[in-house]
Amino acid sequence: MAERGRFITLEGSEGVGKSTNLARVVAWLEARRLEVVQTREPGGTPRAEAIRELLLDPGVEEPLDADAELLLVFAARAQHLAQVVRPALARGAWVVCDRFTDATFAYQGGGRGIDPARIAELERFVQRGLAPDLTLLLDMPVEAARGRLAARGGEQDRFERERDSFFTAVRQAYMARAAADPGRITVVDASRPLAAVSEQIEAILAEQVSAWA
Ligand SMILES: Nc1ncnc2c1ncn2[C@@H]1O[C@H](COP(=O)(O)OP(=O)(O)OP(=O)(O)O)[C@@H](O)[C@H]1O
Ligand SMILES: [Mg+2]
Repeated sequence: MAERGRFITLEGSEGVGKSTNLARVVAWLEARRLEVVQTREPGGTPRAEAIRELLLDPGVEEPLDADAELLLVFAARAQHLAQVVRPALARGAWVVCDRFTDATFAYQGGGRGIDPARIAELERFVQRGLAPDLTLLLDMPVEAARGRLAARGGEQDRFERERDSFFTAVRQAYMARAAADPGRITVVDASRPLAAVSEQIEAILAEQVSAWA
């Protein structure tokens, strides 16, 4: 088993099954007696979670400027990296995170249309070379994922209220990231039944963890 912890992220558009499968990734690693820190973005610390609230609040009385949205995402990320992710990795723990910077390229880049070069600048500034070791990108058609969200119920957040064209752009940006970085990002067909998706994720983990060891 690998001696030092690794940084694993789960990505994908709304309702594809990130949180459901994240729990399985954590359980898989813990079953191998590894120390695991389970976290999410935006958020993961009390102050970063407060920024998450700002980002997800659908309040219509004041629209959120796209550049302000981008900077809030990276402000939350800086806090999360300083308080949680870097200390965990430094002590050898594994970090499993629900969304990370690929989501910024997908949502603020693809969805909002911000120049990816500008996002990459902030990535360098905030992350200083830190990047996930493995990213599982859950991919499925937008309409089908909407159906899962509807079945899950609950209030729609500010992103969930976006139109399908937004999520189609998000999906395309995610797939472009995966095509550009196939060594780190593995695409998983998330439209299949949960058992099949989880089985594939465990197989990817098993192969990757033994390659790291
Ligand atoms: N493979 C699957 N087949 C059918 N339903 C699924 C599958 N995976 C997850 N679900 C269900 O779909 C819903 C959305 O899953 P989940 O909350 O894990 O998605 P998410 O990607 O974390 O969503 P969000 O982007 O809103 O955080 C949940 O009700 C979950 O039980
Ligand atoms: Mg989720």
